[in-house]
Formats: sequence, C-alpha cells, structure tokens
Amino acid sequence: MQDKLTQIESEALPKVAASGSLSALREIELEYLGRKGQITQILRNISQVAPADRKVVGQGANRIRQAVESGIAERRAALEEAEVQKQLSDPGFDVTRPGIHPGRGSQHPLTQVFRQLESIFSSMGFEILDGPEVETDYYNFQALNIPEHHPARDMQDTFYVESGQVLRTHTSPVQIRAMKERQPPLRVVAPGRVFRYEVTDASHENTFHQIEGLMVDRNVSVANLTGVLQHMLREVFEREVRVRLRPGYFPFVEPGFELEFGCVFCEGSGCKVCKQGGWIELLGCGLVHPNVLRESGVDPEEFTGFAFGMGVERLAMMKYGINDIRYFMSGDLRFLRQF
Ligand code: DAH
Repeated sequence: MQDKLTQIESEALPKVAASGSLSALREIELEYLGRKGQITQILRNISQVAPADRKVVGQGANRIRQAVESGIAERRAALEEAEVQKQLSDPGFDVTRPGIHPGRGSQHPLTQVFRQLESIFSSMGFEILDGPEVETDYYNFQALNIPEHHPARDMQDTFYVESGQVLRTHTSPVQIRAMKERQPPLRVVAPGRVFRYEVTDASHENTFHQIEGLMVDRNVSVANLTGVLQHMLREVFEREVRVRLRPGYFPFVEPGFELEFGCVFCEGSGCKVCKQGGWIELLGCGLVHPNVLRESGVDPEEFTGFAFGMGVERLAMMKYGINDIRYFMSGDLRFLRQF
C-alpha cells in the first residue's frame, strides 16, 4: 500500500502538469480522485491495512489527495485562461459584437393598476387591507345585510367549499373585518381576488379582482364619496374626469348608487367604449347601511360611512384598451409582453 502511494505521488503531479486540454485533465482527475480512482480506493480500503500502518497510510493518502486536488485546480485555471486567450487572439472573434440580451420580465397589467390604485388611495390617507379568499357565509353575506334567501346567495354565482365556506364573491366582507378590528374614524381599501360561478366570455371571468373602499367617520357624506372617486379617476386616466351617480341597489348600502364617469375616450360625444352614451358605468357604491354598521359594532347614530366596490379588470381594460377579460388570467406571453 505504501509503495502504491509512493508510486502515485511520483506519477500524478507530472501527469497533471503535462495535460494539454481540459478533457485530458478531467481524465486524470477521474483516474486518481474519481469514485473508482486510485487514491479514493486506498482511502476506502484503509481498514484492510495492518492496524500498525493505518495511521501512516491514511495520512499519506490524504496528503497526496490534497496535493493532487490543488494541482488539478491550478492546472484547470491555467488551461481555461489559455483557452480565453486563444479565442481573443482569433482574428474572427469580435469583442465589440453585441451580447445575447437576457430576457427581462415586466409587471402584469393588473399588478400595475393595483400599485397605482394603492398609491392613489394611500395619498388620501387610506390604509390597505387584506382579507381571506375563502370566507364564511357570515362575512360574505349575512353581515352585509344579505338575508338568507337573497338571490345573490344563489348557488348559481357562489362557489361553495366543502366545509360550508364560500370563495368570496366580492371584497365587501373586508369592510366588516375592518370595522370589527378597529374603531372609526377609518379609511381603508381592500384590493383582492374574487370568484363567481359564471360562464366566461369577453366580459365575464370566474376569477377576477376588485378593490373595496370604506370610509367611516362623523358626517361622512355622498360628497366625500364622489370627491374621492373623482380624484382616483383623474389620477388613473391623467385628465379631468366628470362623475355622476345613478340609483343602484346593493343590500349593504342605503342609499346605493352606480357611479358613472364621462367617457375619457370621446369626451362624451359617443364612441364604442361608452356605447355612444358618453358615460361609462364603473362601480357600485353608497352610504353604509345602518344594519351593517351596527352588526360591525359601529353606532349608526354617531357615525356614517361610504363604501364602494370596483372591478379592477374593467378599469385596466379601459386604461390599456384591452377587449377581452380572459387575457388577464390566460398566462399568454404574447399578451403579457406588451406591458
Ligand atoms: N360588492 C358589490 C359587487 O361585487 C360591489 C359594491 C357595491 C361594493 C356597492 C360596495 C358598494 O362597497 O357600496 O357587486
């Protein structure tokens, strides 16, 4: 064994030094240090060495292994450097040629719109809240003044989970969570994903996004509601925008409205986007129903509030001129690369 080691020691390093290519060096590495390499074998079979010699053989083998390892590393660096020099000195090698451009990703259009909305509402003092996507019937319906047999609870638009919970059909349940968790005055927005059991087409998806807004304080009025939403639209579309309210029914607000804004594409003269009407329906809103305040622990004699819930895909579609809601969840890179 000792002889074998001496032999390896005298042979291996000169071989390494003489190797002329990276592949030849790799062969030598395997010959000595590979799984079946000569040094590896000696170390692996150390138990067969007579106990008295074991220490010397073991130490010797390890010392030689280290020497061969560092010899190989050194030789490899030298060969690699030589290879680079060789390529650089080749007259056909053009160092000024542009490299291969690494692909760069971009933010999903919805992410971009959400970031913008969050910054607009933050600048008006709104906090940004999260809520669970799997909700209880209580938060999604009951606490929002949607009684047991209300059509909104119909199996037709709600996904039920086996536990009896639902996939939230809107972001409105976060209103209740916000009021229960903190005291008025409060200003919050809750962006997030919502789900409806619906047939999909160019303007319907089973999974989409909303942003909910809620402001509760003394003397909150409809004027506060329209002021906040008009400012939001002005920022999103980067121009003055007119808004108007029409009556709308939602169980959790009284009075309830549909907010419309003057078409930013034709300035009201009539186009495809506003279906020639000059106005675009944007969102549901209203003053928070006293039942909802009371249920959430807020005294409706002392406080009033406004709330709104807006579909974010619809806003993004108008902002970017997208004509089919299904693109957002499609994962289609031809779509995504445009943003
Ligand atoms: N949650 C309603 C929906 O998904 C939208 C909505 C309407 C939210 C009126 C509100 C509101 O906060 O006041 O259709």
